[in-house]
Amino acid sequence: MLDKPTTIVIFGATGDLTHRKLVPALYNLFRKKRLPLNLNIVGFARRDFSDDQYREEMKQAVARFSKSTFDLDLWAAFAPHIYYHQGNLENPADFRRLRDYLDSIEIDQYNRLYYLAISPEFYEQTVLNIGSVKMSALRPPGCNIVIEKPFGRDLSTARELNRTVHSVFEETQVYRIDHYLGKETAQNILFFRFANTIFEPVWNRNYVDNVQITVAERVDVEHRPAYYDNSGVLRDMFQNHLLQLYTLIAMEPPASFGADILRNEKEKVLAATRPIESSDVVLGQYQGYTDTPGVKADSITPTYGALKMYLDNWRWQGVPFYLRSGKAMANKLSQVMVEFKRPPDVMFNMGKDASMTANSISICIQPDEGIHLKFETKVPDAYQDTESVEMEFHYESTFGDDAIPEAYERLLIDALKGDASLFARRDEIEESWGLIDPVIESSTAARSTRLPTYPRGSWGPEEADRLLAREGRIWKQGCWHG
Ligand code: BG6
Repeated sequence: MLDKPTTIVIFGATGDLTHRKLVPALYNLFRKKRLPLNLNIVGFARRDFSDDQYREEMKQAVARFSKSTFDLDLWAAFAPHIYYHQGNLENPADFRRLRDYLDSIEIDQYNRLYYLAISPEFYEQTVLNIGSVKMSALRPPGCNIVIEKPFGRDLSTARELNRTVHSVFEETQVYRIDHYLGKETAQNILFFRFANTIFEPVWNRNYVDNVQITVAERVDVEHRPAYYDNSGVLRDMFQNHLLQLYTLIAMEPPASFGADILRNEKEKVLAATRPIESSDVVLGQYQGYTDTPGVKADSITPTYGALKMYLDNWRWQGVPFYLRSGKAMANKLSQVMVEFKRPPDVMFNMGKDASMTANSISICIQPDEGIHLKFETKVPDAYQDTESVEMEFHYESTFGDDAIPEAYERLLIDALKGDASLFARRDEIEESWGLIDPVIESSTAARSTRLPTYPRGSWGPEEADRLLAREGRIWKQGCWHG
């Protein structure tokens, strides 16, 4: 349990993220006794609520969105920690009132965490207003700010936002969230690689043929068509979640698990990534997307993307990394599949042109979290036939069906503790925009009117299959046996 008295201020207290993720995660942390006893959660938003009205609203949110069963007694213990403070993000006077209010409820030296769960257009103004009333000063025991994605919409806006944030906060106070890093299975990539000796020796160009990272969603743009249409899959998923998974898979072993040492290694991966060729990019749009209310009728926003990347360093030279993500696809599936080279010689009597199937390791981020190792085995009672089989590890069968916490639980605790290992640093954000920006620019210029389409419930446009087929490869659904 954290022992320092703590105040968490949620800007955007009546928004979707607060309802669906933040307050349910705080409730679960409270249930697990991970939060300090002296705890204030202060919601800040424009609507006029009393503390009790806001608590009631949050109670409904937790009952609806928390993964754990709702417990009335537990809620009765948790609710008094929640307060509501009415205010406008654009009004400095409201921040003065907020400062005085926080001072009045903090009876001692409190650790502060400001959480920006607001629309990105208000990030800069909010940070500046926090600074203008001196609520950002590093004070014992600490004062940090969490900023949600999207962090900028391209390299220049991300740089501008970083400059503004740094005019008020030190980098050590800034927690840029990517909820994929809070996922247990994404963190386990580091443990899988660096807490074992058997995988790392083959984790390089000598043994690996290619790496495929898939983040497929069955859902479409749902309740956010306006945001999505202005963003598209490259900004929404690649600049952040997919590139973060990529750095975890490709990075060198860090000397320690410290935030800066870890992030130095991730940054080196991004810096060594070759600019992506436009011929290595496929974008698509699911059929019917432009009929969605809130989406422009002639929209050319991609809802699917696939790209091939290379990393110019000793470990990965020449190994293609294929990344793909899309909405309205056949299944929800986030996975990393590392495919190894085939055995150099076939000694079994399998015919002249036979080649063995390649071994692979699939890290299943979600759902059915786990790891699959695929290898060849002799078919029993056959002369020389082989068949691919899998050794599988599933979190559910090993650790129980509610072992995996929500990503936000881990990230909130880390931000409260002041551990930034699982948050993106300024240079990581800028490097990743530096890779994705040219892809967005060249693809927008090239397609101007047309984009390949794909049926809802498919694995994306045919062009994405051709991206791999031209090198004799196919996309693998390693973790999914649908
Ligand atoms: C968000 C994107 O960051 O991640 C959404 O904005 C997407 O469009 C979501 O649906 C996917 O997250 P998860 O955890 O469901 O894979």
